[in-house]
Amino acid sequence: MGIFSLLTGIAGPSGFGSASTAEQVTDGIDATNLTAIITGGASGIGLETARVLALRKAHVVIAARNIDAANEAKHLILKDNETARVDVLKLDLCSMKSIRAFADKFHALNLPLNVLINNAGVMFCPYQLSEDGIEMQFATNHLGHFLLTNLLLDKMKGTAKATGIEGRIVNLSSIAHLHTYEGGISFDKINDQRSYSDKKAYGQSKLANILHANELSRRLQEEGANITVNSVHPGLIMTNLMRHSALLMRVLKVFTCPMWKNVPQGAATTCYVALHPKLKGVTGKYFLDCNEYTPSKLATDEVLAKKLWDFSNKLVNSAQNN
Ligand SMILES: NC(=O)c1ccc[n+]([C@@H]2O[C@H](COP(=O)([O-])OP(=O)(O)OC[C@H]3O[C@@H](n4cnc5c(N)ncnc54)[C@H](OP(=O)(O)O)[C@@H]3O)[C@@H](O)[C@H]2O)c1
Ligand SMILES: *[C@@H]1O[C@H](CO)[C@@H](O)[C@H](O)[C@H]1NC(C)=O
Ligand SMILES: *[C@@H]1O[C@H](CO)[C@@H](O)[C@H](O)[C@H]1NC(C)=O
Ligand SMILES: *[C@@H]1O[C@H](CO)[C@@H](O)[C@H](O)[C@H]1NC(C)=O
Ligand SMILES: *[C@@H]1O[C@H](CO)[C@@H](O)[C@H](O)[C@H]1NC(C)=O
Repeated sequence: MGIFSLLTGIAGPSGFGSASTAEQVTDGIDATNLTAIITGGASGIGLETARVLALRKAHVVIAARNIDAANEAKHLILKDNETARVDVLKLDLCSMKSIRAFADKFHALNLPLNVLINNAGVMFCPYQLSEDGIEMQFATNHLGHFLLTNLLLDKMKGTAKATGIEGRIVNLSSIAHLHTYEGGISFDKINDQRSYSDKKAYGQSKLANILHANELSRRLQEEGANITVNSVHPGLIMTNLMRHSALLMRVLKVFTCPMWKNVPQGAATTCYVALHPKLKGVTGKYFLDCNEYTPSKLATDEVLAKKLWDFSNKLVNSAQNN
C-alpha cells in the first residue's frame, strides 16, 4: 500500500483499494439486523456512509447539528427506497449539553446500537473556543466524540450481549495526524491562543482520534465486550470540510489531482470497516484505502493514549461542574 496504490487504484491485500467505492466494498452484505449512528451524516463522507448503510438495509440514525440538512439527507435516501429506516437527531458536538441531550433522545427511541461512526469534524478553523470553553477542533473532533462514545457504550455493550452480534465503533481520523504539536497532544496548552496553529490543532485532534480508539479498544478487550474500535483515514476528498481553506485546497488539488478521491470512494474505508465480515474481531487498528496501515509512532504510544483518556475525562467532568 502507499502512494503507488493510491495513484493507480490497485487493490491491496483486502481486495479493495483507493478506487473502491462504498457500494463496492459492501456488495452483498445484509445489514438488516444492524442499527448505526453516523455523526455528521448530513453531508460529505458521512452522508454517503449513511446512504450506503441504508442501502444495505441498516437502520440509520443521522446525528447532525444542522437539522434541515439532515432532513434533506433523509429524503435523498428515502428517494431510493421509501421504506428505508432513517432517523434524524440533533447533535452539536461542540456542546456537551447537546451531546447529553442527544444520548437521552437516542435512548428514548429504545433502539439497539450496533455501529457508531464518529465522522463529524471541522478542519483548520481560526482560533475559537467551544461552548464549554475548549479549543474548537479538539472539542469537536475529539472531546465531543469521547463523551458521546462513553454515553452510548453501555447501550452498545447491551446490544452486543443480547444479540451476539459484534458491535463496531469507527473513528474518522486523518493522515493529518502526522502533523501535530511537539509531543503529540499539547496537554498544557490545549487552549493557548498564542501557540495556536490551525493546521497543527487539526492534526492534534486527529491524532487524539486514533489514540482514543486504541485506548477504548484496549479497555473493551479487557472487559471482554464484543465491540471493536478502529480508526480510518478516508483519503483526500473535496467536501465542506475545506470551508476554512478553500483556496489553499483548490491550489493543492491542481498539483496533486491524482491523489484525490470522489465522495463514494471517500466513504469506502468507513463502510468497509463498519460492515465487512472480514474484519470480525479486528480492533485497535488504523485503515487507509480499505487496508490496514501503520499510523505514526505517536499514534501507537500506549502511555500517551492513557494520558489523553484521563485528560479527556477531567475536561468532561470539569465542564459538567461549571
Ligand atoms: N475530506 C477529506 O479530505 C478528509 C480527509 C481526512 C479526514 N477527513 C475526516 O472525515 C470526516 C468527514 O469529513 P467530510 O470531508 O465529509 O466533511 P464535511 O462534509 O464537512 O462533513 C463533516 C460533517 O461534520 C459536521 N460537523 C461539524 N462540526 C459539528 C458539530 N459541532 N456537531 C455536529 N456535527 C458537526 C458537519 O456539519 P455542518 O455542515 O453543520 O458543519 C458535517 O456534516 C471528518 O472527521 C474529517 O476530519 C476528511
Ligand atoms: C437477522 O436476525 C434474525 C433473527 O435473529 C435472523 O433470523 C436472521 O438470519 C438475521 N439476518 C441476518 C442477515 O443476519
Ligand atoms: C428497502 O428498505 C427496507 C428496509 O431496510 C428493506 O427491507 C427493503 O428490502 C428495501 N427494498 C429494496 C428494494 O432494496
Ligand atoms: C474514537 O474512538 C473512541 C473511542 O475512542 C471514542 O471514545 C472516541 O471518542 C472516538 N472518537 C473519535 C472521533 O475519536
Ligand atoms: C462476537 O460477535 C460475533 C458475531 O458478530 C461472534 O461470532 C463472536 O462469537 C462474538 N464474540 C464474543 C466473545 O461474544
